[in-house]
Amino acid sequence: MYTDIHSHVIWGVDDGAETREETFRMLKEAVADGIGTIVCTPHVTPGVYKFPEQTFQEHFRDAEVYIQQEKLPLKLYQGAEILYTENTPRLLREGKVPTMAGTNYALIEFSPTDKREHIFDALQKVAGCGMIPIIAHMERYPAIGKIEQVEEMKSRFRAMVQINTRSLTKKIPLLRRGFFDKLFREGLVDYVATDTHAMEGRGTCMTAGIKALEDKYGEVTAKRIIKMAEGLVIHSSEFRIQN
Ligand SMILES: [Fe+2]
Repeated sequence: MYTDIHSHVIWGVDDGAETREETFRMLKEAVADGIGTIVCTPHVTPGVYKFPEQTFQEHFRDAEVYIQQEKLPLKLYQGAEILYTENTPRLLREGKVPTMAGTNYALIEFSPTDKREHIFDALQKVAGCGMIPIIAHMERYPAIGKIEQVEEMKSRFRAMVQINTRSLTKKIPLLRRGFFDKLFREGLVDYVATDTHAMEGRGTCMTAGIKALEDKYGEVTAKRIIKMAEGLVIHSSEFRIQN
């Protein structure tokens, strides 16, 4: 069973699932898609939009109850997809922004128009908080298009790279294809995840994504990436933040 570290399955907190029923259908769909663990990562925009924390907690618990009732082989963890803002480092330091399954790994998203300098500066600040930044859907940022840039982000800020499984199943624009291939071939991708938002359109895509991963970049690469996501939650208690 796969571990999906990027999912908007919890309803009513962002642009993901819109209703309780949709959450429930998406949970069943995830299981059918080979997923056994989900880190629920609603959008959080620190200091810009107030995150509906209480609603998230209620809907998350409701989803867990549903999983128990239906006896689904599925485990949920809490996380967030954090859009980087100037408030992000301070709120991360104060423990006011959810990290991945309570670890010091933070899933960080940028705007597709962000410049390289901004992204590097942001990663430096996140790393400076003692966090390990996981860059959400790395394929989306045109400012990062060279392997050396990714290597630098990894060596200087311990940054991790997440790619959406849907990007593996669809055709990558010619301009980005070489970069995308190199990321995988040179072992620079740490996680693939569904980033699922809804039943229709942006549904789950794990099994197909992993199949494409194996076909394009080989079984060894696929296995390593699958294990990385497992490790993030299995060992989450080892690097849990002490408050
Ligand atoms: Fe997302």
